[in-house]
Amino acid sequence: MERWKQHILVVDDDVAILDCIRMSIKKDIPCQITTTSDSLEALELLKNNVYNVVIADINMPNLSGFQLLEFISTISPNTPVILITGSTEPEKLRIAIQLGAHDILRKPFELSDLHMAINNALQKNALLLQNEVYRLNLEHIVQQRTQELYAAKSKLEKNYLNTIHAMVNAMEANDIYIRGHSERVTVLSIMIGKLLNLSAKELNLLRVGALLHDLGKIGIYDTVLNKKDNLTPSEFSLIKQHPVIGAQIVRPIGLPEAVYNIILQHHEWFGGGGYPYGLTQENISLLARIVTIADSYDAMTSKRVYRHNLEPNAARTEIINNIGFQFDPDIGLLFFEKFCQITEPLSDTPAIQNLLSELI
Ligand SMILES: [Fe+2]
Repeated sequence: MERWKQHILVVDDDVAILDCIRMSIKKDIPCQITTTSDSLEALELLKNNVYNVVIADINMPNLSGFQLLEFISTISPNTPVILITGSTEPEKLRIAIQLGAHDILRKPFELSDLHMAINNALQKNALLLQNEVYRLNLEHIVQQRTQELYAAKSKLEKNYLNTIHAMVNAMEANDIYIRGHSERVTVLSIMIGKLLNLSAKELNLLRVGALLHDLGKIGIYDTVLNKKDNLTPSEFSLIKQHPVIGAQIVRPIGLPEAVYNIILQHHEWFGGGGYPYGLTQENISLLARIVTIADSYDAMTSKRVYRHNLEPNAARTEIINNIGFQFDPDIGLLFFEKFCQITEPLSDTPAIQNLLSELI
């Protein structure tokens, strides 16, 4: 930093000493000097200006050098303060150090000592300011990089969701009767998840898992999926493979375990007897238990090639009749009780979009 820009404030109620210091600095140190013998005026100057160094007498009327030092430490911590005193009391030295004085000069002092103290203080101030600039630059760079990272992350998340939707569309193209099923199951699952106070992270996992839950149907012949007559045992065995096929498809993509479990377990029954593994109760993941209810409700209320759809209230009754058997009792009961609240957004497209956009 260039010296001519530096500004020193000198405060001493002894006008003779004040003049002596001013003349001495002016002669040997190229900088701007402001002097005052009034400590209250010094306080006002400090409120309105930034000084590179402050020299203050300790014993002054109204405000002491210690009080000025405390004030400077608060508003301008990069400004070193040199205290001057006629006292030889060690207690004053201790307080000065404790308050963070840069240096202390005892009257009478040599002008060479004064110059050395000022030069050291100016160097310290320059270093502190450099450090401050460096810190601010660093903060700016970190902030900029963080924004870039967030933008990249957001783009990746959108690409990720677009890919998931493309996979769902590919799967639903195989079966005209289930078009829109994955989206409806997703919204219903998220509504249930919200009532269960799941975290945003869990809701996002639920969203992806629900969207992909039937992905494995892509590996089942459409003649089997859309068969009007009763399925043969071997055809039903084939259908029962779709959770495993779906899980195998997503395994290499590296989707979270929670998503994998939703796909694999969404046909498991709470009381056992589901497929593919016959898992029971808490051995089935919570998110899969949610999707099971949403999936069953939407399947029951949707028309299929081989059967008519149920009315919403009839499907709701089916769910309450099967809690503990097919469905998790707590989630099933919650679904039954909050039925209108849960299903209302399904008829409202903007509400669905709002719900999903909240999770991106
Ligand atoms: Fe399924």
